[in-house]
Amino acid sequence: MTVKKPLNVVKIRKMKQQKEPLTMITAYDYPSAKLAEEAGIDMILVGDSLGNVVLGYDSTIPVTLDDMVYHSRATARGATQTFIVADMPFMTYHGSIDETLKGVRRLMQEGHAHAVKMEGGLEIADAVKRIVQSGVPVLGHIGLTPQSVNTIGGYRVQGKDAADAKRLMEEAKALEAAGAFAVVLELVAEETAAIISRELSIPTIGIGAGRQCDGQVLVFHDVVKYASPYMEKRFVKTFANIGEQIRGGIQDYVNEVKSGAFPAESHIFKADDGVSESLDSLYGGGTSEPATQQNQLQAADEQKVGAKS
Ligand code: KIV
Repeated sequence: MTVKKPLNVVKIRKMKQQKEPLTMITAYDYPSAKLAEEAGIDMILVGDSLGNVVLGYDSTIPVTLDDMVYHSRATARGATQTFIVADMPFMTYHGSIDETLKGVRRLMQEGHAHAVKMEGGLEIADAVKRIVQSGVPVLGHIGLTPQSVNTIGGYRVQGKDAADAKRLMEEAKALEAAGAFAVVLELVAEETAAIISRELSIPTIGIGAGRQCDGQVLVFHDVVKYASPYMEKRFVKTFANIGEQIRGGIQDYVNEVKSGAFPAESHIFKADDGVSESLDSLYGGGTSEPATQQNQLQAADEQKVGAKS
């Protein structure tokens, strides 16, 4: 178990200069954040992907600011030594700057995030600038931007042709000029992502954007195969299969309760001597002979021994 000092934006930029790859994973609650921190992750993203992987929606669009604040706060309790970025959810940064800053304030003060992430390029550059000027680090996010899935026309690779690659470069540069401390490149052709990474002074963090980004981010539920609703994706590598272990454990629990093997003697608490007789004398005078607690325990233990032999 590695526990490091939390990063900050200065150290994050330095890591790019020193060519040290940045690691980021999403987390949405106390246990996922705690495990990510204990594993030595550099940064945690409280992504609005929680809409899909935690809340069961089919996109990130229904995720609200209240959802993000709630999950960010739980995440911060689990990872007290890690740099936490929280997503600004759908349509919370396209209206007035006052509204935008209100959302940012909630994620920082109530959600205990250290930075916010926003999807988009040129169209959000002014908002990014104002947020950074107010003292809040911003992580940009371009390429496949799931909050705009309805205008992008589906989840497809970005920056494949020259015109689209140029558009992405301009967006990345606009975010850098606005003061973003890093930019997520999602589902971007490797060559395009490599040149953007080379041209920017701030780090790029790729997801499905190839090998030349300055860091990588993946969704927690994909990394450990935890009942992720996402279809298998080429850019995801499964590093553990906890979904199968959890399902197996719950199946064993169900089977043992059904068979009487659980709870066993080692899981129970004994009453004082004479309590069964005293309760029986008060309530056990019916026509049928009630089994005493002792008899029930004996029966369960015999069943367990029988099941094992
Ligand atoms: O919401 C999220 O998890 C994200 C990552 C996929 C980058 O935006």
